[in-house]
Amino acid sequence: MKITLTKNPKVKPDFSKLGFGKYFTDHMMVMDYADGKWGEPEIIPFEDFNLSPATTCLHYAQGIFEGAKAYKDADGNITVFRIDENFKRMNRSAERLCMPTFDAEIAKEALFELIRIEKDWIPAEDGKALYIRPTMIGIDPVLGVHASHTYRLYIILSPVGAYYAHGLEPTKIMVEDKFVRASIGGTGEAKCMGNYAASLLAGEMAVKKGYDQVMWLDAKEMKYVEEVGSMNMFFVIGDEVVTPALVGSILPGITRKSSIELLRDHGYKVVERRISMDEIVEAYNNGALKEAFGTGTAAVVSPVGVIAYKGVDMNINNGKMGDITKYLYDNLTGIQYGKKEDKYGWITKIN
Ligand code: PLP
Ligand code: COI
Repeated sequence: MKITLTKNPKVKPDFSKLGFGKYFTDHMMVMDYADGKWGEPEIIPFEDFNLSPATTCLHYAQGIFEGAKAYKDADGNITVFRIDENFKRMNRSAERLCMPTFDAEIAKEALFELIRIEKDWIPAEDGKALYIRPTMIGIDPVLGVHASHTYRLYIILSPVGAYYAHGLEPTKIMVEDKFVRASIGGTGEAKCMGNYAASLLAGEMAVKKGYDQVMWLDAKEMKYVEEVGSMNMFFVIGDEVVTPALVGSILPGITRKSSIELLRDHGYKVVERRISMDEIVEAYNNGALKEAFGTGTAAVVSPVGVIAYKGVDMNINNGKMGDITKYLYDNLTGIQYGKKEDKYGWITKIN
C-alpha cells in the first residue's frame, strides 16, 4: 500500500474538550473505483477533495457511510470493536444505493494501517475514542440521474468524546408525528446520506422546543416506534426489554445487536417486535415503563429521561439511568475499553 506521510502534522486538540467529530487526524485512506474495478488503497495526508460542482453525490446523494470506534485500553493496546460488521453493513448499503461493493479485508487492513499511523490521536480515557468514518461517494462529474461510474471510498478518523453535550445525563426525546425518516421499501436500513438530510428539519424543530433528538415512527400508520436519529431504541416494560423489530426501515445497529446479546446472556428477556406509542403511553400510565435507552456507536448506551408525545412529557425513571441501562453500559463499555473479558470475540487488537 502506498503511504504518503504529512510534512505538517497538526497540533492536537485538548483531549479533555473534544466534543464529537470536530477534529480530524493527519492522514486518511482513499481508494478509487473506475473502469469497473477498485484501485489500491492509499494513505495520504488529510486534505480537501477537488470535486466538480456537478459531482453525482453532491446532487443526488449517492453516498453512504459507517461509524465505528478504535480504543486505547489500560494496557496500551489499540483495539477496534466489531469492525467486520461495519464493512459488511457498508457493502449492504452500497448494494441498496447502486454502488459497487468492495473487498472488506482490503479496506480493513488499510484502516488498521491508518490507525497505527494515527495511534497518538486515540484518547486513552474512558468515554473517549477514535471515531472511524468510512465513506463512499459517487464522483462522476455528470448531471444525468443514473448511478455514477466512478467512486471514492475514504476513511477519516476523529478523536471524540461523548456524542451528547450532556454526556451520560439522560436525553430528552421528542416523538415526531408529522415527518417521517424512512419507509418500508425506502433506504432506511441503509446507512446513506439522504436519510440524515431527511431527518434534519424535525431534529432542529425538536431542539428549539428543548429536546435533544427525535424519535421516528413508522411511515405508514405513524404508530410504531422505529428509532432515534443516531441510535436504536430499547424500552424496559415490566420484566421485558423491548426493541423495535428490524422491519426494513430501521438501521440494523451493531450496538443494538451487541446489546441484545449481552442482555440475553445475563438472563434478561429481550423481545424484538413492533411496539406502538399507544403501548408505551399505557405502560407509562400504569407504571410498567421502567427504563428507556438508545444504543449506537456514537451514542454508546444513552439513557432516555423524557419522551415527549402529543404535547405530554413522560418522565422515565425520575430522569435517572435505570439498572438495566447501567448494566448494559458497564458491560458494553467494559468490553470496549478492555476492562471486561470479551468472550464474544468482538474486539480486534491492531498493534
Ligand atoms: N440508527 C441510526 C439512524 C444511526 O445513524 C445509528 C448510528 O450508526 C444507529 C442507529 C446505531 O447503529 P450502530 O450501533 O451500528 O452505530
Ligand atoms: C454513529 O453512531 O456512528 C453514527 O453514524 C451516528 C451519527 C453520528 C450519524
